[in-house]
Amino acid sequence: MLTDELRAEVARLKEKRDAVVLAHYYVPPEVQELADHVGDSFALAKLAATLPCRTLVFAGVSFMAESAKLLSPDKTVLMPDPSADCPMAHMVRRETVDAARERFGDDLAVACYVNSTAEVKSWSDVCVTSSNAVRIVRALPQANVLFVPDRHLGSYVASQVGEKSVILNDGCCPIHRDISAEEVRALKAKFPDAPVLAHPECGPEVMALADFAGSTSQIIEAAVAGSAHDYIILTVDGVRGELERQTTGTGKRFHFPATRPTCPDMDRITVERLVACLRDGSGEVGLPPVEVAEGARAALTRMLELGR
Ligand code: 13P
Ligand code: SF4
Repeated sequence: MLTDELRAEVARLKEKRDAVVLAHYYVPPEVQELADHVGDSFALAKLAATLPCRTLVFAGVSFMAESAKLLSPDKTVLMPDPSADCPMAHMVRRETVDAARERFGDDLAVACYVNSTAEVKSWSDVCVTSSNAVRIVRALPQANVLFVPDRHLGSYVASQVGEKSVILNDGCCPIHRDISAEEVRALKAKFPDAPVLAHPECGPEVMALADFAGSTSQIIEAAVAGSAHDYIILTVDGVRGELERQTTGTGKRFHFPATRPTCPDMDRITVERLVACLRDGSGEVGLPPVEVAEGARAALTRMLELGR
């Protein structure tokens, strides 16, 4: 429970640094409450590129803060805990990209999920997020697309964009991977009229049971707009607060897998660490070496141009 003193202290520190706090839906609810903007990774990247403040505090994992710094290199970007890292961001090897380029030449595009390090982005032609991956892959001129690092989002994209040959890489989000088809079937048996809204980082067996696939924001929008009473939500539990806030008074109910998916890296972003970083200016995110920064920024900028 946040006190008025704490809220006032955060407001004072933000003003002093000319700081805006951006938070992802997966960080703890009390951190989301203190943020100026809460969103999915695409919305937060767009904000990072355009907000007029001097300092951005990124309440999320490192690939998000790193993308913010690449898109807005003149701003100071701070992370409440720089060790909060997405394991999937590292799950692709340079050789995989080189081998595909060697095999397909100019008829290959490398599409890189934004959940990746700056180095991986710099090997790629374009970044995507879960909210725009289908649209962007469809718009690419090449017939072959190597999708890295997430094989689950990649296979969802392949299922939607039949006209392309999508080559998958063996990475995935351990949290969404562990949502099992059995537990989804159990939820469906209990709530047979509930639409299943899934994040496409879930595995193909789970996605086959879904009525809707989308990013965190798109899942929230679909549940808010829907006419059903119960919804089965297949993503990290952090979206629950916003789902409940936006549906207050409607009686809508949200059912998550019993294993309660949480992201331990996002959970590292606590109120105490947020306040400390605003107070001390700690956790500053730097730019990678110039060749990496240039390639990664080009892939991110292309996403901002092609995505929505
Ligand atoms: P969104 O782009 O849907 O916000 O998801 C980011 C993420 O890390 C999902 O695990
Ligand atoms: Fe990475 Fe998965 Fe956590 Fe998202 S939920 S930040 S993909 S580990």
